[in-house]
Amino acid sequence: MRCAASTTDRLFRVREGEIIPKTLVDEANRLTSLYSASAGPLVGAVTPPGDKSISHRALLLGALAVGETVIDGLLEGEDVLNTVAAIRKLGATAERDDAGTWRVQGVGIGGLREPDSVIDYGNSGTGARLLLGVLAGHPITVFMTGDESLCSRPMNRVANPLAECGARIVSRSGGRLPLAIIGAADPIAISYRLPVASAQVKSAVLLAGLNAPGHTTVIEPEPTRDHTELMLRHFGADIDVSRDADGDAHIRLVGQPELTGQSVVVPGDPSSAAFPAVAAIIAPGSDITLAGVGMNPRRAGLFETLVEMGADITRLNERLQAGEPVADLCVRAGALRGVDVPAERAPRMIDEYPVLAVAAAVAHGDTVMRGIGELRVKESDRLAAVAKGLADCGVAVEESEDSLVVHGCGGPAPGGGAVATALDHRIAMSFLVFGGACGKPVAVDDAGPIDTSFPGFVDMMNGLGANIGPGKAAP
Ligand code: S3P
Repeated sequence: MRCAASTTDRLFRVREGEIIPKTLVDEANRLTSLYSASAGPLVGAVTPPGDKSISHRALLLGALAVGETVIDGLLEGEDVLNTVAAIRKLGATAERDDAGTWRVQGVGIGGLREPDSVIDYGNSGTGARLLLGVLAGHPITVFMTGDESLCSRPMNRVANPLAECGARIVSRSGGRLPLAIIGAADPIAISYRLPVASAQVKSAVLLAGLNAPGHTTVIEPEPTRDHTELMLRHFGADIDVSRDADGDAHIRLVGQPELTGQSVVVPGDPSSAAFPAVAAIIAPGSDITLAGVGMNPRRAGLFETLVEMGADITRLNERLQAGEPVADLCVRAGALRGVDVPAERAPRMIDEYPVLAVAAAVAHGDTVMRGIGELRVKESDRLAAVAKGLADCGVAVEESEDSLVVHGCGGPAPGGGAVATALDHRIAMSFLVFGGACGKPVAVDDAGPIDTSFPGFVDMMNGLGANIGPGKAAP
């Protein structure tokens, strides 16, 4: 399979210390069209790759700490490798040993140096936005770009608060990449109320506050993932959270802490575990175990929703890893019923709606997903991509500006669609999962982006019993 070859190539490049941006990787080395067809039950035990959000943060805080940070379980997907490349350009060192442990030698807060070339963040919105936060507190000039998907995504949501901190950002029209940032020589500690429920924006402001004297406060009306807060504390920062009379969280960071290098064991990514989990639920007779999956309550919305829909998911060996809750998940196949997913749950499962929509398509009854307008500014317009992909596979859907209704087929869906992934890894993986529960195979036009977050996805799925292969149709 192409997938295995591309994974090996990538690790080889990492070992050699050279990371080739996605845009420069030989096209021939990338996965292109894949089909997925129904197979027997999925059976076995697998360990999903490391958490992408936590991996980015471990590298960035490692680069800002004094001393060595040792990271095990780092996600070696393209998005995170772009953060490795970025911190190296900025003066930190990051090396991987043959056992897969990464060692980062930090330069201390304020110690990053001006890179001599453009930082290409490929497909990664999280990496780009978090790094902009870090750079806002360093008096250096940095140019940043990304792939076609990233260059279409809104950056003003971080540029606006970072300008309040004293950074200057010049971007393309609409606040899009490429952009240049000149960080503040004397960063200002700000108090910022999040206008959108975004952990990326919260994190960018907190990271900018690291080099600002005084207290930086982010006011968060709706809870979003808190990996930045947990990891800042793990590295020695003074950060506390209180609630006001309206229930809004006030996250307050004391500026200019001394961060010291730490050991970080990255849990498995619940957003990646979601794909084999849903694949197992919808393939009759399946019984799989997903080992070491992060169960941070602010990420677990999909699993809550699937249980509400009737899924059989059991958490075993619940434990804490670097301050993050982790469990092994036993997932068995079973019939699902449609549910109403409230808007307030969206931040806790924002990346999981595409694969939830796949589960909803085979459920009995309707599933209503509310308050999901943010899906329109992810790696693709995910609301539109999911609605079109399902409709092309014979599933009835209703799409509004910020909601989606999926009329479940009450069993296998017709399938047969050819889905455009639009440089979006989660669209590619969701529809490859869907193919396993359809009468006719489902094809995706470009599975290359899967490597941004889930290297080895196809091998892992096929190892469990899925039927995914190269080409537009099953042989
Ligand atoms: C992320 C936050 C989310 C999520 C993204 C990762 C993070 O984005 O969609 O994949 O690591 O902070 P928003 O914060 O913009 O919702």
